[in-house]
This record gives sequence, C-alpha cells and structure tokens, in this order.
Amino acid sequence: MERVLTLFLLCPALFFTTVTSQQDNVCLRPNLADTINLAGIHRYFNPGEELALSCIDGYTPVSGPRKIVCKVNGEWTKTRFLCIPKRCPYPDPPTNGELYYEDTIYRSTINYTCNEGYVLTGSSTSVCQANGTWSTLVPECTPVTCDLAPIPQFGMIIYDTTVRGNTTYYGTTGTYRCHPPHALIGNPRAECTASGTWTKTPECKVVTCHPPRNIDKGYMSTSRQRDYDYMETVKYGCTGEFVLEGSQEIVCQQDGTWSEKPSCKAPCKIGINRGRILYKGRKIWIGDLNPNRVLHNEIVSVYCKNTARNCGYAVPTQCIDGRLQIPECFEEPSGTDYTFHSGSLPSEITQC
Ligand SMILES: *[C@@H]1O[C@H](CO)[C@@H](O)[C@H](O)[C@H]1NC(C)=O
Ligand SMILES: *[C@@H]1O[C@H](CO)[C@@H](O)[C@H](O)[C@H]1NC(C)=O
Ligand SMILES: *[C@@H]1O[C@H](CO)[C@@H](O)[C@H](O)[C@H]1NC(C)=O
Repeated sequence: MERVLTLFLLCPALFFTTVTSQQDNVCLRPNLADTINLAGIHRYFNPGEELALSCIDGYTPVSGPRKIVCKVNGEWTKTRFLCIPKRCPYPDPPTNGELYYEDTIYRSTINYTCNEGYVLTGSSTSVCQANGTWSTLVPECTPVTCDLAPIPQFGMIIYDTTVRGNTTYYGTTGTYRCHPPHALIGNPRAECTASGTWTKTPECKVVTCHPPRNIDKGYMSTSRQRDYDYMETVKYGCTGEFVLEGSQEIVCQQDGTWSEKPSCKAPCKIGINRGRILYKGRKIWIGDLNPNRVLHNEIVSVYCKNTARNCGYAVPTQCIDGRLQIPECFEEPSGTDYTFHSGSLPSEITQC
C-alpha cells in the first residue's frame, strides 16, 4: 500500500505498469457518468472492496446494482446503474394565460404569459428543481383595469354589465347617450382596452335642422317655419288621391340634416274604354268604375283570351305613380262586340 502510493506520486507511468502487471491488483476510482456519485474519496481500491453508487442532486437511480466491487484482476464488477433526471409535475396553465415548456425534467424551464388585457402577477418563469418541484407557483393573470369611463358633457354612459365601485376591467363595454336636444358625435360604443384606457369619448352637441320644405302634392304637420332640434320630427301627408311613399315622418338627424322625405305618388286612369276588369277582388265593367281611377300601387287585372284553348284569363298590372301599363295581350273589343256580344268577351267565357 505505502509503496504503491509512493510510486504513484513519484511516477504515475511506473505506477500504472506496476499495478497492471501485478497479479494482486488494485482498482482505480472508476470513470462513470457525470450524474453518478461515487462514495468516499479514495482513488484506488483493493480487490474485494466495494464502492457505493448514488445519483447527484436532481437525478433518480434506476436499475442496479447500486455498488460495484473491485475484482482480483483490477477491474470493477459490471453494473447497469443509471441516473435519470427527476420529473416535475405537469404544470397547469394560468387562467387567462398560456405556458410554454419543452420538458418537465430537472432544470427545465416554463415560461408563462397572460392573454391580451391581463397582467401577470407572480413569476413569469419557473424552473424544475432538484427535488422535483417547480421553483414558483403558477402566476396569476389579472385583468387590466380602467377607471370609470369618461362622461361627455350633456351625456351619459350605460354599461353593458354591472360596474361596482370606480374600477372597470378590460373588456367592459357600454353605450353613450346624449341628453336631448344634444346629438352624439363620434362612436357611441365604449370599451376598456388592453392598455387600461377607454376608447375615444364622443361629444354631445346641440344640433339644429333647417325648417323642412313641403313635398309636391303633400302637406306637413306644421306650417310654422322654424329650426328644429336633433330628434325632432315632422310628418307629411298627401293631398287628394295621391299616395305617400316612404316614411311618413322625417327626423332631424345628428348631422343637422333631415332623414329622407317621403313623396306623393299619383293615381292612375285605366286606359281602356271597353272591357271588364278585376279590381279589389270584384269583376266590374270599366264603365262602372266611376271615376276611372286607381291609386298608386294598386293592382288591377284585365282579361285576355287564349285563342287555342278558347278560354279567358286575368292578367294583373300595377299603378305606378300615375302610369298603368295595359298588358299587351289585351284586345279592346269593338263597340258592336262590346254591346251585342259581350258574352263572348275573354272575361265572360270559360276561364283557363
Ligand atoms: C422562455 O423564455 C426565454 C427568454 O425569453 C427563452 O430563451 C426560452 O426559449 C423560452 N422557453 C420556452 C420553452 O419557450
Ligand atoms: C424543494 O427545493 C426547494 C429549493 O431548494 C425548496 O425551497 C423546497 O422547499 C423543496 N420542496 C420540497 C417539497 O422539499
Ligand atoms: C375610488 O373610490 C374610492 C372610494 O369609493 C376613493 O377612495 C378613490 O379615490 C376613488 N378613486 C378614483 C380614481 O376615483
């Protein structure tokens, strides 16, 4: 023992040849994987001596045996002892956030992020420690807060959800209204954004519309010529047998103009002298329609004849603002036919 150590210190090469040539050999401290701990600090071992193996921090032993023995020939007994990294439990993602990791073994890292509009409280990274636990708890993602929405002068906001105290959260929305006669200029919708501020506040402004003009063949609900406030309305009607088309009421809009005015549409004269028509579900001779007039949009049918099948059929046509097109298939009977052979007119024979 003494002798060998001295030799070793003096000349390692000589020591090496000495120990390998000797029959009663010693074993050198073995070179095993970095993750394996060897017991003690001895550099050499006599045959029969054991060396205990363990894993370094963060690693778990698998298979065995957990010790090797120095054999007579200076070699160690074989072992399949192996150290594998410890595994940390699979992490949960934070509510309203995400996590990123490649593995969950010793020294693995998790990165945490929060969704837009949420702030991370806690640690954004966590490391799997030697004892198989994560270095930090899952962080919290708390919503960004906004103050209460700014209120425009002469206006108000109606939140879509109940707001408690004087704090609102990312995603809180509402609608602005202005007190009449003020009109809302801008976006009526409001939202607490991810940056903790509210979307642009609209303005409430006094809006006036010029006195509205009358429409052709019509009259207005007021004859006084004055300016009108935002949202004020004026009604229209039509004279005689003219029919109002469009909205009966116009409104002073937020841009100071009136909404679209209605118009008055003219009645129609049915342009036939002899024949029978179908009007409002009744068959009447044209001479009995007194006066000869139907209103805008009304539908009238005249009768045509299917010569091949010798039958009659009604063809509808509509009065559009004073114009009523007589269907081309209509043939006006002669005065004689009309007077003496009215039974053979398309309106009187068998219907197709
Ligand atoms: C975590 O973030 C660090 C620093 O930004 C980056 O280098 C690393 O790749 C990220 N890891 C994962 C798993 O995303
Ligand atoms: C795991 O190791 C860490 C860091 O050394 C320590 O703070 C923690 O208390 C340990 N956890 C357990 C369960 O032993
Ligand atoms: C919010 O309200 C609390 C009490 O209700 C008050 O102390 C605080 O100053 C208010 N904060 C703001 C920004 O108005």
